[in-house]
Amino acid sequence: MNPDIESVLVTEEEIKIKVKEIGNRISADFSNLNPMFIGILKGSFMFMSDLMRNVDISCSADFMGVSSYGTGTTSTGAVSITKDLQENIENRNVILVEDILDSGMTLNYLINILSVRNPASISTATFLDKPSRRKKPIYADYVGVEIPNVFVVGYGLDYAEKYRNLPYIGILKPEIYAE
Ligand code: IMP
Ligand code: MG
Repeated sequence: MNPDIESVLVTEEEIKIKVKEIGNRISADFSNLNPMFIGILKGSFMFMSDLMRNVDISCSADFMGVSSYGTGTTSTGAVSITKDLQENIENRNVILVEDILDSGMTLNYLINILSVRNPASISTATFLDKPSRRKKPIYADYVGVEIPNVFVVGYGLDYAEKYRNLPYIGILKPEIYAE
């Protein structure tokens, strides 16, 4: 295990099972709707690729870059777009794919700006959910794992751009971000 990790919160095996469950639900809910998966960069890239491999219906993909955290462990609340969509979402059924739903500021902002582009529907899938931290009344339609109020890394999630490559979700040793 990586020496900066205190403990593993979600193992590789658990991740596989949860992603498959969400993939199956989305395949059932969106058959014949040709959904567009929108991965919110950077954190969602691993979940996005695993999720799409577990969906067996017609669909497409695009990405949006969003920055809300800087290098700290708590949100500033300010969200900025670093990369916009390439595809037109008018009349499309979009599924926003997030690594983690924390305060809800990011998803709230994205839903607001994307609604204006007149999609047929907007759904949300997040691998992790920290409901205790919510500042906006935002709920995801598809949630992998609910977790307590701890700062986690791995499976796409970073601290100061590190640890995204870990194949599991781990709790970072507090001394790493106290330094
Ligand atoms: P929200 O806008 O507060 O819901 O935060 C969403 C974003 O904050 C996520 O997409 C992550 O990039 C980041 N984030 C929130 N909690 C964590 C965490 O525990 N570890 C790493 N990044 C996190
Ligand atoms: Mg991040």
